[in-house]
Amino acid sequence: MREPASATKGFTHFVVTQKVRESATISSFVLRPVRDDSHLTFRPGQFIVVRIPLAGGAQVLRTYSLSGNPDDPSQLRISVKHERAPVHLPDVPAGVGSSFLHESLDVGGQLEIAGPSGEFVLDESSERPVVLFSGGVGLTPMVSMLHRLATGSARPVYFIHACEDGAVHALRQEVLALAAARPNIRVHFCYRTPNRDDLELGHHHSSGLISRENLQALLPLDDYDVYLCGPRPFMQANWRLLRGLGIDKARIRYEFFGPATILDEDEPTPAPAPTQPDAQPVADTQMSVRFDPSGRSVPWDQGCHSLLELAEQAGLSPSFSCRAGLCNTCLTPLVSGSVEYIEAPLIEPEPGQVLLCCTRPTSSVVLALGDLQ
Ligand SMILES: Cc1cc2nc3c(=O)[nH]c(=O)nc-3n(C[C@H](O)[C@H](O)[C@H](O)COP(=O)(O)OP(=O)(O)OC[C@H]3O[C@@H](n4cnc5c(N)ncnc54)[C@H](O)[C@@H]3O)c2cc1C
Ligand code: FES
Repeated sequence: MREPASATKGFTHFVVTQKVRESATISSFVLRPVRDDSHLTFRPGQFIVVRIPLAGGAQVLRTYSLSGNPDDPSQLRISVKHERAPVHLPDVPAGVGSSFLHESLDVGGQLEIAGPSGEFVLDESSERPVVLFSGGVGLTPMVSMLHRLATGSARPVYFIHACEDGAVHALRQEVLALAAARPNIRVHFCYRTPNRDDLELGHHHSSGLISRENLQALLPLDDYDVYLCGPRPFMQANWRLLRGLGIDKARIRYEFFGPATILDEDEPTPAPAPTQPDAQPVADTQMSVRFDPSGRSVPWDQGCHSLLELAEQAGLSPSFSCRAGLCNTCLTPLVSGSVEYIEAPLIEPEPGQVLLCCTRPTSSVVLALGDLQ
């Protein structure tokens, strides 16, 4: 039986069939499998991992949400922001992955991708109204969700997008066309600093930062499913606004496009589990996890999904991105002990290294994981 591309754990070659400039900073890449016999399925909100070749044969892995129509099985689309070098910081280089995609990849070029994957997906079993709330390039998974909601659902939808101005606003016409496809889809664009064209043409509905008043006016009292994605300050500010409007934590699903931190920093963080004296050996029925060089040691908590979750629960901030064994961002030296993989990693780590996001200990372990990564 032929395996659908969505089920592949390894990398598959895709060819770029279209490259579309969506705004001053964002371009879309439409991708089809080189072996044109794969059936591409993904859930709206999922991402793929892209292998980016670098000079000298090196490579990096980067994660991109799928921004296209989940009901088109023939192709995938990603929309990528070019992370240019900041003009005011001459020593900081441009982003390697997005620069390669923008500057060196054109129609006809090939990319190796893995996935689709990810748990930040539209809950289609729910009948609640949906709020798709994005900042900047965080709109990509929302556009894919909007495709599905516009054609396959009658749920009320509120598509709220914040960005700098009309010049960097991507996929605007597509969102408006989807919203016009059926009643009960409301769109609100908020530009932080609208330019002259925006002001003349009325491209946006509000300006400045999204405020509590904006949200209150937009969202009538109801029980919503909220999907939130954007840069860190956007996420923190709007998480608080949503919580302030009484929206339950469990109703707010979110995705960070980079190393994430705890969102609700205004809420008490769980106290670190009690520290154990170093030298005491621990029976493996009470497995411990020690983080070097601090020497902090916590008992393994069976309620944790992975070592990553345990480390976060202990107050550490390990780097992560995909949380699915695909991107190697959470690769950490295993000083001693053994682990099992709850999800097979895409690329098997070298001996002595573990992927925190998809492992659990099978004995007491020591990890080389500082307080700050
Ligand atoms: C689940 C998920 C989904 C995502 N979806 C999307 C998407 O749909 N679209 C999208 O555009 N992105 C998306 N991303 C982000 C994407 O994966 C990349 O992180 C992004 O493209 C930047 O990668 P890069 O290689 O260009 O930048 P990197 O090389 O990783 O650099 C990142 C930033 O750091 C700066 N930098 C580089 N070196 C230094 C240094 N020495 N000191 C200080 N700063 C430095 C760069 O200028 C750049 O701004 C997603 C991420 C995740 C985790
Ligand atoms: S966070 Fe991507 S492999 Fe662990």
